[in-house]
Amino acid sequence: MGKLQDKVTIITGGISGIGKASADLFAAEGAKLVLVDMNEEKGQEVASEYTSNGHEAIFIRADVTSEADAENVFNRTIEKFGRVDILFNNAGIGAVKPTHEVPYAEYRKTVNVDLDAVFLFAQHAIKRFLEQGGGVIVNTASMYGWIGAPGSAAYNAAKGGVINLTRSLGVEYAAKNIRVNALCPGFIDTPIIPEDQKKTLSEITPMGRLGQSEEMAKAALFLASDDSSFMTGNTLTVDGGFTAQ
Ligand SMILES: NC(=O)c1ccc[n+]([C@@H]2O[C@H](COP(=O)([O-])OP(=O)(O)OC[C@H]3O[C@@H](n4cnc5c(N)ncnc54)[C@H](O)[C@@H]3O)[C@@H](O)[C@H]2O)c1
Repeated sequence: MGKLQDKVTIITGGISGIGKASADLFAAEGAKLVLVDMNEEKGQEVASEYTSNGHEAIFIRADVTSEADAENVFNRTIEKFGRVDILFNNAGIGAVKPTHEVPYAEYRKTVNVDLDAVFLFAQHAIKRFLEQGGGVIVNTASMYGWIGAPGSAAYNAAKGGVINLTRSLGVEYAAKNIRVNALCPGFIDTPIIPEDQKKTLSEITPMGRLGQSEEMAKAALFLASDDSSFMTGNTLTVDGGFTAQ
């Protein structure tokens, strides 16, 4: 028996970086995967990798900021698997630019993807969890949700919002057998980090390197599984020592 045996698990941003590494680990632990992303071609490709290796997986194309797409994701998940047990609310975009140069539309897009969509998907999941008698949400926030950093004010604000959204949902639904926690990664070697920044970001991390997506996947598995059964409304920061400085 895997740690997520037969758990129907929606992973947004599940075809790249932290989401993909988590999908790999969750599948190995027995989860039935619903991969959600914007890239239809890559999504179908990744989902068929899993099914050809004997796992249950589907891909659903969605822009996580779209109310209609979110509704479709949950309807199709129920159609296919009959329930949803875990939501890994992980899709996100980075945004690096001096704050005084950020067009307001760009600020709003960042907050829309990195915070509003987390609320939207959580709300859909919670409705299903209340009918089913429970469920688990893992939100991907960031260590930048804890601290200030120049050039990414919108991102940092959104991720700080995800941390307090997580606390609020955790408290609100604790008595309903719904757990909500957040993963706060440090600098992780994924496509979200521009190649030309990787060296500097490694150097400013106490461990002297970037984290790997597989290291985030293990933390996400802890939060998604019964290993964290007495934990809700809380965060797990996995950052090579960055925020301890
Ligand atoms: N890599 C890091 O250093 C780091 C650090 C802290 C937090 N995070 C967070 O981790 C999460 C995963 O990022 P990653 O590093 O794996 O990057 P990534 O770019 O590899 O993965 C992000 C995925 O989200 C998808 N996505 C973006 N906008 C979307 C939208 N509107 N609708 C649907 N899908 C969308 C992308 O297509 C992509 O597949 C993000 O929330 C990110 O903010 C990453």
